[in-house]
Amino acid sequence: MKKNLDWANIGFGYRPTDYRYVSTFKDGAWDEGALTTDDTVTISESAGVFQYAQTCFEGMKAYTTEDGHTVIFRPDLNAERMMDSCERLRLPVVPKEKFLDAVVKTVRANIDWVPPYGSGATLYIRPFVMGTGPVLGVQPAKESQFRVFVSPVGPYFKGGVRPLKLKVSGYDRAAPVGTGHVKAGLNYAMSLYAIEEAHHQGYDENMYLDSRTRTYVEETGGANFLFVTRDGTVVTPKSSTILPSITRRSLMVVAKEYLGLKCEEREIPFAELGEMAECGLCGTAAVISPVGKVVDGDKEYTFDTSDGNMGPTVRKLYETLTGIQMGRIEAPKGWICTVD
Ligand code: PLP
Ligand code: COI
Repeated sequence: MKKNLDWANIGFGYRPTDYRYVSTFKDGAWDEGALTTDDTVTISESAGVFQYAQTCFEGMKAYTTEDGHTVIFRPDLNAERMMDSCERLRLPVVPKEKFLDAVVKTVRANIDWVPPYGSGATLYIRPFVMGTGPVLGVQPAKESQFRVFVSPVGPYFKGGVRPLKLKVSGYDRAAPVGTGHVKAGLNYAMSLYAIEEAHHQGYDENMYLDSRTRTYVEETGGANFLFVTRDGTVVTPKSSTILPSITRRSLMVVAKEYLGLKCEEREIPFAELGEMAECGLCGTAAVISPVGKVVDGDKEYTFDTSDGNMGPTVRKLYETLTGIQMGRIEAPKGWICTVD
């Protein structure tokens, strides 16, 4: 039986569910892994994760489709991205099959927590790997844990779908040859000061520019950008220092194959912002969140949000992507992983 939650009003936050998955890496190998009800972790005070932030994570969602199945959207791409993150952070790589097995087992074990179709909520899935072995010198931990928990969530931004107001950040998110392209916990730790500052000033998020030249659009703290030009071309930043968003990569396919739109993945000079008609943030948590305004000092750039708080093209992208995720629109082959 589904849990009795006020699904429409749960917000985006951690809510412990019944089961989580844990696997330990020790003596050079992963153990088999198992589900547990224990939502706490006891590890050395000198664990790599505590001392040198040796941890990476993933984020994806499980949905209840229109016909009542539980599905996960493209988890194979999250598995691949986490392999890259582990490699970069010198954590033991979680093999793709192990990752997928852990994710499916955790969702199945918490099936009552998957929000019902049409509720506006989804089940957020959070896999992560951390160095648990003790370190003192700067070096990778010899022992690690791979864990997966799930939590039902509502919209990422307070107030649901509404035009967001962003600030061009005075801080950098990622170094030019750093870790911006992987999902390292440290990327988020260093964004906390900037996001709090933005919130205190009345903004929803930060727009980060490339840290080498401060002239190209990168991404926000938790989502990639997508723009629509005045002639209807969908444009998204190409950069080696942003997270390769699975939502953004999927939307580019949707734009091209489903909507017949012209698409470009290229460097976007900030100086071009005034020529963009629509702007959205895309990510697992953000889905596609419309941007109404970007503020850079005393300059403001505004975007079309005339179609139910979104621009008309962003609206079409949103409807098609969520239609595919919820089973109303046929998905490209391999995009939907059915759990039950
Ligand atoms: N960019 C950052 C910094 C993120 O944290 C996320 C969230 O995962 C994304 C982009 C969007 O990626 P995805 O669509 O794979 O969730
Ligand atoms: C996601 O969209 O999955 C994210 O990780 C964004 C944020 C919650 C960090």
